[in-house]
Amino acid sequence: MTRWYSERKNEYFYKEAKRDGYRSRSAFKLIQIQKRFRILKQGNIVIDLGAAPGGWSQVAKEIVGEKGTVLGIDLSPIQPIRGITFLQGDIAKESSLQELIQSMEEKKADAVLSDMSPNISGNYSVDHARSIFLCEQALITASTFLKSGGKFLCKVFEGEELPRFMNEIKNKFGSVKKFTPPASRKSSSEIYIIAKSFKHSI
Ligand SMILES: C[S@@+](CC[C@H](N)C(=O)[O-])C[C@H]1O[C@@H](n2cnc3c(N)ncnc32)[C@H](O)[C@@H]1O
Repeated sequence: MTRWYSERKNEYFYKEAKRDGYRSRSAFKLIQIQKRFRILKQGNIVIDLGAAPGGWSQVAKEIVGEKGTVLGIDLSPIQPIRGITFLQGDIAKESSLQELIQSMEEKKADAVLSDMSPNISGNYSVDHARSIFLCEQALITASTFLKSGGKFLCKVFEGEELPRFMNEIKNKFGSVKKFTPPASRKSSSEIYIIAKSFKHSI
């Protein structure tokens, strides 16, 4: 894909997001992942990590419907959306995990999603290491809240630690795949890991 085409494509998804009322162009990534992997269903309980400004949560809520639950958390505050609960906190902190536990009221989740990104330094290996750290936190959260058979979707920046992290996920889930949605920037090293059939709870 040429740079020109790639930039037009990014602009395209940005405009589409605005037109469709989504808060982020990332919303299209979840729509494309959902189309291919069917990770969310009506009535599901979903935790959205790194939810700001709320695009994924909007898409998730559309899919799970009135009877479903979406609980989002981010370092940044998120403007309210009817029917969605947002928390502000750092998922790497024990206090945030405790807040999530309280909000879940002993319920288990059908899916844990993470679109978390670190602050980008521009140094490939630093950014990769930070991304893996966030993915590890997301996996801890998924292991804490998922029902047996539950699903985990996680964004990661590619790099040398990825095979090890993939193995960690494979130990906990029956099926694990990698996917780059068309709405991802061509220049980005991000990929999405789609894990299904959570094997056990801790
Ligand atoms: C690409 S954005 C998410 C976009 C979102 N999925 C959407 O569609 O609107 C990544 C988010 O990860 C959040 N994030 C990064 N580190 C985090 C952490 N430790 N705890 C919670 N959120 C974090 C950032 O604040 C940022 O809002």
